[in-house]
Amino acid sequence: MQTMQTLNKLVEQLQHIPIVFVGGKGGVGKTTTAAALASQFAAQGQKTLIISTDPAHSLGDVFDVKLTNKAKTLSDNLDALELNPDVIIDAHFAKVERTISGYANPDMLPKIKQHLQLSKSAPGAQEAAMLEAICQHLVDATEHNEYQHIVFDTAPTGHTLRLLSLPEMMAAWTEGLLSQQRRQAKLKGAAEHLAGNKLAENSLTGSKRDISNPFADAKPVDRWQQAVEVLNKRKELFRKAGALLHDKQKTALVFVLTADNLPIEETRRAVTQLKQADLAPAALVVNQLIQPQQQDAFWQQRAARQQKMVANIEHYFSHYPLYAIYLQQTDVRGVAQLQQLN
Ligand SMILES: Nc1ncnc2c1ncn2[C@@H]1O[C@H](COP(=O)(O)OP(=O)(O)OP(=O)(O)O)[C@@H](O)[C@H]1O
Ligand SMILES: [Mg+2]
Repeated sequence: MQTMQTLNKLVEQLQHIPIVFVGGKGGVGKTTTAAALASQFAAQGQKTLIISTDPAHSLGDVFDVKLTNKAKTLSDNLDALELNPDVIIDAHFAKVERTISGYANPDMLPKIKQHLQLSKSAPGAQEAAMLEAICQHLVDATEHNEYQHIVFDTAPTGHTLRLLSLPEMMAAWTEGLLSQQRRQAKLKGAAEHLAGNKLAENSLTGSKRDISNPFADAKPVDRWQQAVEVLNKRKELFRKAGALLHDKQKTALVFVLTADNLPIEETRRAVTQLKQADLAPAALVVNQLIQPQQQDAFWQQRAARQQKMVANIEHYFSHYPLYAIYLQQTDVRGVAQLQQLN
């Protein structure tokens, strides 16, 4: 039977890993663990960015600051930001609009804009926008080397698992879109050739100039090429992010659970699902453990029950390093306290 190690040992295990995802069931201590890891990396002089992908603003609450989509410095070597889905989705759709405007008939633009406005609230739209933002941060973090660690505090398990398996799907999907557009371009090119390029000229005349469309002044062929370039960039982003997520030297998935039946079951399912995506957790953190020596009969019983659950955890997850965090008297708040959590 393996014995659980303390959190500073996890910091040691992850010392050379640039990307850390902290996941787990609702309320088990993901935000606390992610914030503690980030604060402890920073305390060791490693420049760290912590990113919350959870719309509930709890990361800001833990640090007692208001976080936005822009990185804010919290202490030496520690920056934080919160990906706000509303802000991201606006930026994302503005980008989509520019891309589509690149190859759409300018007369259709008002209709397209209206459609996009409605699409913002379509199921999955926020998730896709968040995913692109996360992938961008992943790729930036590893390419620009600004941070030695980037720690993601995620929303509960199902959401995180989807996020982790989506980049590859999105890369394939974007490729599908591109090949469809390539076929259309060929057909359009042939048609334009037959019509003596009349089609191309007509599509530019007679329509109002749209200053929000950077491609508006370009010739259709140029607009087309620019749109393809945007899609190609997107595909490349998802491809790179997918590769990073599957690289054990680059990304660690840390699951937090408590010593209770439901979190244990959820973690077992998550590990199975990860396996299907060819991923595995780098470590498990068992949070809110009660010290075994207790005076009070109630707490004695709670501690004894937890010890049984811990034995189950050690049995089910014998392949993974296990770390323990004990239940604290109060909520853990602020960088100083988080650095001490062990
Ligand atoms: N070891 C601990 N000792 C004392 N309190 C803790 C501990 N770990 C977490 N908490 C408290 O438990 C609550 C839930 O923790 P936290 O917000 O970190 O969980 P979460 O998994 O991020 O939740 P959510 O799923 O809502 O995002 C918070 O009030 C936090 O301060
Ligand atoms: Mg949280």
